[in-house]
Amino acid sequence: MYFKMQKGLFITFEGADGSGKTTQLNKVKDFLTQEGFDVVITREPGSLDIGQKIRNILLHHEGFVSDRCEMFLFLADRSQHVDAFIKPELDQGKIVLCDRHTDSTVAYQGYGRCQDVELLKKLNAIAVNGLAPDLTLLYDVSTETAQQRVGSEKDRMESIGLDFHSKVRKGYLELQKENPDRIKIVDANNSIDKVFEDTKEIVVKLIQERRGK
Ligand code: TYD
Repeated sequence: MYFKMQKGLFITFEGADGSGKTTQLNKVKDFLTQEGFDVVITREPGSLDIGQKIRNILLHHEGFVSDRCEMFLFLADRSQHVDAFIKPELDQGKIVLCDRHTDSTVAYQGYGRCQDVELLKKLNAIAVNGLAPDLTLLYDVSTETAQQRVGSEKDRMESIGLDFHSKVRKGYLELQKENPDRIKIVDANNSIDKVFEDTKEIVVKLIQERRGK
């Protein structure tokens, strides 16, 4: 089934901490690689050298971090990531699978931290400089299940309370309603195999549509 994508394909994986999206991203990578595609995986925050430093502050800084500082750090990381990695890879015709992207900022900093959602969308637009995912897989899971899956070893973001995480979930579902063509919900309460079956169906459909063009 090998063919080279002319402009690459950009797929983002979104959902709560503990939604299982990273497991699915890796399974999609293995599947598409076996099918002969040129696939790269990446994540936000922190896929590159500058990003690693930003990630360290965002997830492990122990002192006070203001909500606006947090917001700009996620956006700064994204700007660098898009210019230095995602766009060049797409330009080479690759499939880029990205663990979290713009929707995380709207869901976490917008809905979760109560920053201005519309403003965040504009700031995201500056950060991505015209890039948009071809597909976003949203792994939706009940907040209680997600928190149980995260366990007791929590980073700075995961340590925020249940109320924050249910607002994040609500934000994601709102975004899906606004962008039903791009964002596809996958029920992540199910077993890993079932979630992958559902994921695969959506991804294969997208690729077939692209080939048909
Ligand atoms: P990470 O360890 O990558 O978690 P996960 O495996 O769940 O993706 O941590 C990233 C954390 O940062 C996660 O709690 C979500 C949060 N985040 C934001 O709040 N805003 C953002 O824009 C991004 C990209 C992530």
